[in-house]
Amino acid sequence: MTELYTVERANNFIAQAKEQVNTHYRPKAHFVAPVGWINDPNGFVFFRGEYHLFYQYFPYDSVWGPMHWGHAKSKDLVHWEHLPVALAPDQPYDISGCFSGSAIVKDDTLWLMYTGHIMREDGTVRQVQNMAYSTDGVHFEKLASNPVLDEKDLPEVIDPADFRDPKVFEYDGKYYAVVAAKYRENGGCIVLVGSEDLVDWQFESIFLKGNAEHGIMWECPDFFQLDGEDCLVMSPMQVARDGLSHHNINTTYFMRGKVDWETKTFEPHTIEEVDNGHDFYAPQSMVDDKGRRIMIAWMHTWGRRNVTKELDHQWAMAMTIARHVKIQEGTVIQTPVLPALTTSVSLDDVIEQAIVVDVTNPEQASFELQYGSDADAIRIRYQQEENAVYINREGLKEALLGEEKIPVIERGVAVKEAVVKELRMVIDTHSIEVFINGGSAVMTSNYFFTPATEPRLQVLSGNVELSGFALS
Ligand code: FRU
Repeated sequence: MTELYTVERANNFIAQAKEQVNTHYRPKAHFVAPVGWINDPNGFVFFRGEYHLFYQYFPYDSVWGPMHWGHAKSKDLVHWEHLPVALAPDQPYDISGCFSGSAIVKDDTLWLMYTGHIMREDGTVRQVQNMAYSTDGVHFEKLASNPVLDEKDLPEVIDPADFRDPKVFEYDGKYYAVVAAKYRENGGCIVLVGSEDLVDWQFESIFLKGNAEHGIMWECPDFFQLDGEDCLVMSPMQVARDGLSHHNINTTYFMRGKVDWETKTFEPHTIEEVDNGHDFYAPQSMVDDKGRRIMIAWMHTWGRRNVTKELDHQWAMAMTIARHVKIQEGTVIQTPVLPALTTSVSLDDVIEQAIVVDVTNPEQASFELQYGSDADAIRIRYQQEENAVYINREGLKEALLGEEKIPVIERGVAVKEAVVKELRMVIDTHSIEVFINGGSAVMTSNYFFTPATEPRLQVLSGNVELSGFALS
């Protein structure tokens, strides 16, 4: 018997359960739900002067469960106001979960496109695409004609059990969505679907087909044009390690290339990992009123330890800080969106602040930093000989390992410039995001210091200067 989930039940539960949350590891400047589990960011959109963020949400426990869509809004991407749950799995076409999707504004109405996950009695799975809309930005109505796309719309070669995570966009006066899919004989692909009105949808094309190197399945595609290039961002599963890249069990790709709008196919020219840290998955982006492409991601990856669940803190997982993404002089640049930074804060009090490390002598630029205490720390180092930056979690008391065959203790990234001159680090209660040389490479990693640890940022070696900035 399927349990009955509704928006009302979820909101009533959250209202009382949020008081029970243990706040010890709750971040100050990163998005977390009031209570329960979150994963992918969904429906990230600018609507009536505010940023709206939806997210994969199971309020009833701090583990993944039948997915709802949580909802919050913000004026600055750091301070969030929680809103009622937007979607609950309460219909035959989404009964086992309202999976990931996206949002678009049309005629001042906020539309959501999401995947209905259906686990059938015989154990087989179907994934279909659904629409919901809201005129007040708070309450959502699912379309009576849902699902708007199901297996009947797919070519025979595609497995209807893996057809999910639509990212809707407008191009040349028409609506499209890129949707992640899987070939029956294995391997990811991106399907393009189209609509004139957001209500009637058709299959358009296989936008991009992966090969054996690209993992077993792709998730959470995002397509956009940025600084004159066509970009496809996605989250492939189980890609083999390649040098310093793709060490996490599931990874992220930032593909730059060209769409042929005649054949509706995408040809990638370059592929790079979006973030080379331990904890970054399922990024999604939007354009705001200033014309900025802003990206946010889940600050975790599948298969890893869930520390706050183990400790029964009643919440789990957070989003990354929002990043402004650009292509500058041929390089993808990500910079943290942090409002109103004030200078001159003490470095003993780094939490909730951005730290800038300036390399004072580029001739001897190698350095090592430690955040934590000698007995419990995360370490960041730059090795000039390799021109690479590493984040190492070996010194943490709480080891954060996962399902990877080779334990992912250290992550690294090649520096695109000749040397590291500056790191900007956004440090919060349980996470660090390192933006290298103005954001041409980024690494995001979590840690959970044991309660006795009084974290400090220290220079272990090298000629570097630290300065701190507080968020207001
Ligand atoms: C990615 C993902 C999506 C899916 C969602 C379910 O993290 O697996 O593909 O829609 O999570 O919560």
